[in-house]
Parts: sequence; C-alpha cells; structure tokens
Amino acid sequence: MPRTDTPEARLRRLVAAAAPAPGFLSDHDVVLRPAGGRNAAVVVEVDGEPRWVAKPSRAGEASGEGAFLRGLAGGSLRDVVPRVHHDGGDGLVTAHAGGVPADTVPGLASGHLAALGRFLAALHDLPVADGGSRPPWITRLHRPSPRRLSRSPAAVVGLVREVQAHDGICAVLDDLAARWRPDVLTHGDMRLANVLLGDAARITVVDWEAAGPGPPALDLGWVAGDLLLRWALALDPGAPSEPLALRSGGPALHRACSGIAEVLDAYGPSRPDPLPVMGWAGARLLQAAAEACQAQLFAPPEARMITMAARLVLTRTDAFADRVAAVR
Ligand SMILES: Nc1ncnc2c1ncn2[C@@H]1O[C@H](COP(=O)(O)OP(=O)(O)O)[C@@H](O)[C@H]1O
Ligand SMILES: [Mg+2]
Repeated sequence: MPRTDTPEARLRRLVAAAAPAPGFLSDHDVVLRPAGGRNAAVVVEVDGEPRWVAKPSRAGEASGEGAFLRGLAGGSLRDVVPRVHHDGGDGLVTAHAGGVPADTVPGLASGHLAALGRFLAALHDLPVADGGSRPPWITRLHRPSPRRLSRSPAAVVGLVREVQAHDGICAVLDDLAARWRPDVLTHGDMRLANVLLGDAARITVVDWEAAGPGPPALDLGWVAGDLLLRWALALDPGAPSEPLALRSGGPALHRACSGIAEVLDAYGPSRPDPLPVMGWAGARLLQAAAEACQAQLFAPPEARMITMAARLVLTRTDAFADRVAAVR
C-alpha cells in the first residue's frame, strides 16, 4: 500500500473532493468529527454547522451506496434518505440530515416507531431486481472458515464456540439461512444507529451499503433486535436460571415488545407474522454480541448480557412472537 493511502489520507482526499469550490477549505473553518458508525465516517462541520457526512471507501471497495441513494432520491422514499453531495471512488459524502441517532434515545416515541413501520412497508413495496443475495454473515457464525476464525479476536472465538456448543441455536441459524428468500428490496442493516430521529416523527435512514433483495422479516427483525437490546442490557447475567433472567428484565421486555408491535402495526394492513421477525431479531442480537466482542480478549459484561438475550430469543422464538402478538 503506498504511504499516502492511509485512512486519514483517504478521508482528506474525500473532503477535498466534496468541497464546492477551490479554496473552500481554506476560506472556511472546517472541522471533522467522528460520525459514530462502525467505520470511518465523519461529520464535516463548516463554520460551526454540521454540513456533510463523509464516508471514505475502504481500499479498493466501491460500495454502490451512492448510486443506490440517487436511485431512491426521486421516488416515494425521497424524504427518508440523505441527499448525495459527492460520490466517487474515494467515498461518499451525503448532506447532513440532522436528527438524533435512534440508538442513543432511551425510548422511541410512538410517532417515530410508526414512521419506521411505514418506511419499511414503502421500501419493501419497491420493485426488486432479480439477482443473488446471501443471508447476513451472522447466520454462519457457527460455521466460520478457519481463516476467519484465525483472524478473530479471542472473545469472538469464545462466542463462536459457545454457539457451536448449543445445537438449538445452530439449528435456528441454519433455518434462517435456509428460508432466505430475495422477495423484496431490503435495507439490509436496519440497526437503530442507522435511523436519525427528527422533529414531528420525521426519520432519515442512512447506511445503505447492504441494501439488496431479501425477506421483509430481515429489516423488521433488525429493528426488533435493536429494540430488544435495551432489554438485553437490563438482564441479570448472574441469574441462576433462564426464567429468573427473564423475570429480571420484565418491564424492559414489555417496553421492547410494545415498540416492536407498534412498528409491525404501522407496517400495513396485512400485519407481518411476528415469528420470522423475532427469528431475525435473535440473529441481530447475536450480531450485536459479536460486535461487542470485537477487539476484546474476554467478552465484556454487556456482550455476555446480549449473548444471553440472543440465546433466549433464538431458542424460544415462538414465545417472544406470542408476547409481541399479545401487546398488539
Ligand atoms: N447524512 C447523514 N446525516 C446525519 N448523520 C449521518 C448521515 N449519514 C450518516 N450519519 C451518521 O453517521 C453514522 C455513520 O454513518 P453510516 O453511513 O452508518 O456508516 P457506517 O458504515 O460506518 O455505519 C450513522 O450511524 C449516523 O449516526
Ligand atoms: Mg451505520
């Protein structure tokens, strides 16, 4: 790799390419702040105001996110997606959308939950291109390639071993992958960090890198999984049995299930079956546990709580689906 191709150098090139005129960066007070995603995205502040979000492409990897966003810009989702400001081999720059990332808000208001449900229904109604698509990698967590395993941090290897030792979880992950159908256009990474909450129930949905054909329950399940994360973090990891652990998170579980029910209700007149949605919610929890284990030698306490929640949801999916159905 040439010396100039560091992440910082790529970011500087991207911001320079996004400047509307030569000299813009020296004429204005431009500050870069971490945007808070999983990668290297930054908020570009110009004269004290957030103006763009710049996401450098990973070396040699064009994500296609910009082209995809431009395709959505003229259609029914134009108010929900960020505007593309610059898109090139160096990365993507979108107009800063304002709002608060939904994962940082303790409780989502009904208006925002309903907006999420309506947005997903509209997205899943768009024409979907034929073509291959694969289930998310988390459905293969228990079947890692030796190469992947050798590159994983110790805490992730520990999680893989824990899942492999649990036949019930392996069977559910295999089942999710086997039932994968590219029926609708999905966002593909509907974690709450990718949803910005604005005034008057307005939402903006960012991070379309994983968009493509998939089952509708994937997106609904990712939202449901993230709503369940708050319950997961209220669990008592030292509880001596699963029923006691479930009791320890009772009120938080009720809040999460009510939120999931509100999203499903707003999704449309043909209310989706909560069973596959909760299967994917369990997969999302497992993914969140794996993410919490990244770069760790030992699983941190929150990873242990989320793993416990994932195990409960994946092995008792029908009971969780019943709970959601009961609050509707
Ligand atoms: N157009 C935007 N306006 C405001 N905030 C944004 C915008 N795009 C992204 N963000 C914020 O930056 C974070 C990271 O961007 P994202 O596209 O999700 O990248 P990553 O792939 O790193 O997760 C998001 O979680 C969101 O909080
Ligand atoms: Mg993101």
